[in-house]
Amino acid sequence: MTMTLLRGRLLSFKRAPESLSDTASYAYIEDGGLLIDDGKIVATGDYTDLKAAAPADAIEIDHRPHLILPGFIDTHLHFPQMQVIGSYAANLLEWLNTYTFPEECRFVESAHTERIAKHFFDELIRHGTTTAVAYCSVHKASADAFFAESLRRNLCMVAGKVMMDRNAPQGLLDTPQMGYDETRQIIAEWHGKGRNHVAITPRFAITSTPAQMEAAQALAREFPDLHIQTHLSENTDEIDYTCSLYPEAIDYTDIYARYGLLGRKTLLGHAIHLSEREADALSDAGSVAVHCPTSNLFLGSGLFPMKKLMRREKPVRIAVATDIGGGSSYSMLRTMDEAYKIQQLQGERLNPLESFYLMTRGNAEALALDARIGTLAPGSDADLVVLDAAATPAMALKMEVVKTLAEELFLLQTMGDDRAIAETYVAGKAAKSMLGKQER
Ligand code: GUN
Ligand code: ZN
Repeated sequence: MTMTLLRGRLLSFKRAPESLSDTASYAYIEDGGLLIDDGKIVATGDYTDLKAAAPADAIEIDHRPHLILPGFIDTHLHFPQMQVIGSYAANLLEWLNTYTFPEECRFVESAHTERIAKHFFDELIRHGTTTAVAYCSVHKASADAFFAESLRRNLCMVAGKVMMDRNAPQGLLDTPQMGYDETRQIIAEWHGKGRNHVAITPRFAITSTPAQMEAAQALAREFPDLHIQTHLSENTDEIDYTCSLYPEAIDYTDIYARYGLLGRKTLLGHAIHLSEREADALSDAGSVAVHCPTSNLFLGSGLFPMKKLMRREKPVRIAVATDIGGGSSYSMLRTMDEAYKIQQLQGERLNPLESFYLMTRGNAEALALDARIGTLAPGSDADLVVLDAAATPAMALKMEVVKTLAEELFLLQTMGDDRAIAETYVAGKAAKSMLGKQER
């Protein structure tokens, strides 16, 4: 197979940056080369060295002066909510009942599901996101359509059919047995097929009976390597209602703990309003609190105390995500801009190195997938994003006075969106520039 040699400014993180001056936390190569063979990065280094080492017939693509990073990772979003974005509601529960549940009912129709799946991956690629952790609808066919499209595009995705058996319209309910059986079938049919990963996905405690939580627990025991995803402590009314449904639990987090759902591969969307006891419990379990800034602001859910959770004596693991369609942008750049502002409002600093670490290696570590994605290390899958910090006239003007890499990253985060994504590579193949050109 012909190799590909990319040329550009390479940036990849080695660990979480401790400060803006922590240059040891990342590798930056001004005139870098990235050699790709069969979907994987085989070498990263100075362009001149790689050019000398590459086969003579390698295809060379020059992305200078742009930055080349590992593709962005979005650790929480909802595939059936593409047409829910921008729905006017006072709060989470009104938004779910008025717009979100009715929209998800439409995913019973396979033609609709298949159409939205194509748009979903188009949109991720347009925004430089190469891995996402998604909720499908309750319908098994929605997960089938999701994974079939992901496989067709050779993407690394994590997703699950939501399990929900109460407090939603009839058309969105399964049963404990159905949720269990269908999740098992989806695991058998899709987990490990291509780069697909199946996640056990009880939507949240409000929409699952204790019997369904037991079914989720049984799945977690049978498949201990799988990710588990659910929602936790997003909104104060939600918390009160949830606790009233599980009176034996000491708090919201304890509900999931009681059903054995807290482990190192558990992703808890939002987790905004945690008590110290709950934060300790998450820390002890090694579970991940997934910050969804645009969603938290859009739905008025609250200000996630990210920095506070990170610097506790018992730190809580953190990931970042869009939460489409409670979230208002597919862009991880827009997401980190809002994450920055949420910390500003709490008197905390989130520096641009930390932001770009979180979108790439940080999220990969949260998913325990950092051996495959999230860095430019040789052996990794060649999922990449190429960033243009002068993508718009206003950005180009600001770039005239930008002097450092950190300033450039901060500009990308503050003003960037899909226009700043010059290219997205999926397993070594240019994908953004091919959108709309593929056979449908
Ligand atoms: N809690 C339960 N379901 C959802 C959802 O679809 N979106 C958000 N933001 N929170 C939820
Ligand atoms: Zn969500």
